[in-house]
Amino acid sequence: MAQNQSTEVLVFGSAIIDFICYTPRLPKPGETLHGHRFQTGYGGKGANQCVAAARQGSRTALVAKLGADTFGADYLRQLREEHINVEHVQQLAGQTTGVAQIGVSDGGENNIIIVVGANSQLSPCDVAQAEELFREAKVLVCQLETPVEATLTALRNFQGVSIVNAAPAMVDTPPELLQLASIFCVNESEAALMTQMDQIETVEEAKIAAGKLVQMGANTVIITLGKLGAVFGSANEEYRHVAAPQVPPEKVVDTTGAGDAFIGALAHNLARHPKAQLEEHIAAACAVASQSVQLPGTQASFPRSDVQ
Ligand code: RIB
Repeated sequence: MAQNQSTEVLVFGSAIIDFICYTPRLPKPGETLHGHRFQTGYGGKGANQCVAAARQGSRTALVAKLGADTFGADYLRQLREEHINVEHVQQLAGQTTGVAQIGVSDGGENNIIIVVGANSQLSPCDVAQAEELFREAKVLVCQLETPVEATLTALRNFQGVSIVNAAPAMVDTPPELLQLASIFCVNESEAALMTQMDQIETVEEAKIAAGKLVQMGANTVIITLGKLGAVFGSANEEYRHVAAPQVPPEKVVDTTGAGDAFIGALAHNLARHPKAQLEEHIAAACAVASQSVQLPGTQASFPRSDVQ
């Protein structure tokens, strides 16, 4: 990878340490279960998406906050090993690195609780400080594990293609967040929460939700649907479905971070192949996400592209 070329994918967002318990099934409220394996990993939707793009071959930079603790120091080292520009990743005195408690069932389903720690300190000032990156990057990626005011400032100060992954979903999403993003991307449960639909389990229901998100102000919407692939569309056009490569159920070991693998690969493809159709980018991103569910862990499961 050439070091002196400008950034392709800029991620403004979270970095979290994952504590993952593998268990036969997810616990019910009030229940204690015996798990069969424990693993720590590098996570946080922002850093995950940045690593996913870097492993596809993009020149990436991350703007994020870590604690001044061993987790933060380890994470910074790890990001450097992924060849990510960490000039604007800071370890903050008096703050702890964000943590996630993750349960993963034998069927590959997960539930996640995050305590964001230092991520809560990402602020509009960080956009000004990383001005050069905001000027040069082709694609900006944001999520909602860091303060939304900072995210809105990042979006207002970016001229290229921006992706907002509205995860975890907010009930009262500021309309500006939808309006400022070139691409607004959510999964089926986030889309249901935002559109007040009871459920989104089919491609047809996802198309209805995508229409509602466009009415709420989004430009282009992508709703990811796990093994069903994704639905996408914009105002005044038909909403379309992209299928995902089929993974046999016995090969699905951990879906944690699959959405982040999708976003990182999408950002990479948008930056590298700006003239290609969005449908092609989504198909490529679905393929990367399908690979990630076949290995345990979050970043640990993200594939590396041979083509750099
Ligand atoms: O999307 C998966 C990620 O969500 C995990 O890595 C965890 O840290 C949470 O941010």
